[in-house]
Amino acid sequence: MSFPQDFRLISYLSRLEQAVRFPLSSSYPESMNIETLFEIAGAQHRQPFMQAMLDYPPLRGTPELLEAIAGTYDHINSGQIISFAGADEAIYASFLALLERRDHAIVITPNYQSLESVPMSRCEVTGVALEAENGWALEVEKVRAAMRTNTKVLVINFPHNPTGALISHAQLNELVSMCRERGVWIFSDEVYRLTEFNPADRLPQVADIYERGISLNVTSKAYGLPGLRIGWVACQDSAWLLKLERMKQYLSICNSIPNEMLTTLALNARDTILERVMNRSSANLQRLTDFLANHPQHFDVTQPKAGVLAFVRYKGAEGAEAFATRLVEGSGVMVIPSVVYASMLTPVSEDFLRIGFGRANLGEALEALEAWLETYSFT
Ligand SMILES: Cc1ncc(COP(=O)(O)O)c(C=O)c1O
Repeated sequence: MSFPQDFRLISYLSRLEQAVRFPLSSSYPESMNIETLFEIAGAQHRQPFMQAMLDYPPLRGTPELLEAIAGTYDHINSGQIISFAGADEAIYASFLALLERRDHAIVITPNYQSLESVPMSRCEVTGVALEAENGWALEVEKVRAAMRTNTKVLVINFPHNPTGALISHAQLNELVSMCRERGVWIFSDEVYRLTEFNPADRLPQVADIYERGISLNVTSKAYGLPGLRIGWVACQDSAWLLKLERMKQYLSICNSIPNEMLTTLALNARDTILERVMNRSSANLQRLTDFLANHPQHFDVTQPKAGVLAFVRYKGAEGAEAFATRLVEGSGVMVIPSVVYASMLTPVSEDFLRIGFGRANLGEALEALEAWLETYSFT
């Protein structure tokens, strides 16, 4: 497969997100300014931050950053982590470090596109689809059926973008056993972990429970701090981490010192930050659910179990893509049609809209949407 292909989601967002009145599709919760982060973390951190030398930090991250990240795991230590420029660089580097032409990968669909397109640039890939009719539940038997003798990695993403779906603890254990028996790695995109509406749904991180588990995370989603651009990978396998380190030598080499310092503060104050995020997301999900329930003739949603995204079925005859285009042109409200989530591996229904509910101005955005729906002639 020729690489890179257009990353449809990023193109869509780049074209529209800064230009619209209401980006009602953001994949992250309301952010905060640096002043607020210092208020939460403690004023004593201000002076060391201002006096920090703008040198290159170590390739894997400063010791303080790696310690703070290790604190988010049960069994991973700071020597088992490499930080990156966002989750995106980590995805790219990980699949380059993991996959060769002779390998095979299994990937869930729909997906955050790089989770399938980077593996596809390396080797053969089989998609396992989550289906709306099934409440976006993963069928573990489909994963088993997709396994081949040369399967190298299973790529999962729970809580799932864009549906907010989760798997059960039992299903995760089954996947780990299945992979362990076959020596298959699990690459687990856990960027929405800690945003579960029911804490009992929270899954362990694969790097904590599986010797070939690779856990991906970032400050962007659960913590609502995408501007920091610090992502990371955790893994128990030191030989593989060394390969990953070599990939980073050819990419960003290291992060920026201010970003690593602010990320360290944020992770050490994560309980307060997560509480703020979850208070808003829970209230906003209720608000969005009420809104959609008032328009049952147009919309239908499977309740997300985590995150700040709802994948909403649009019932109008013109289709979700035409609806989204007319909506943004007519009202400045942006939602993302599911055609942007098209996969090369399995069909993905084009009837859905990705709606983000993590922002402070959700109420205003829904009012603008309501006003527009009143005047819109549905076809
Ligand atoms: C599931 C998933 N993984 C990875 C990423 C990449 O995160 P970042 O852009 O912060 O690097 C995203 C961003 O939307 C995502 O939704």
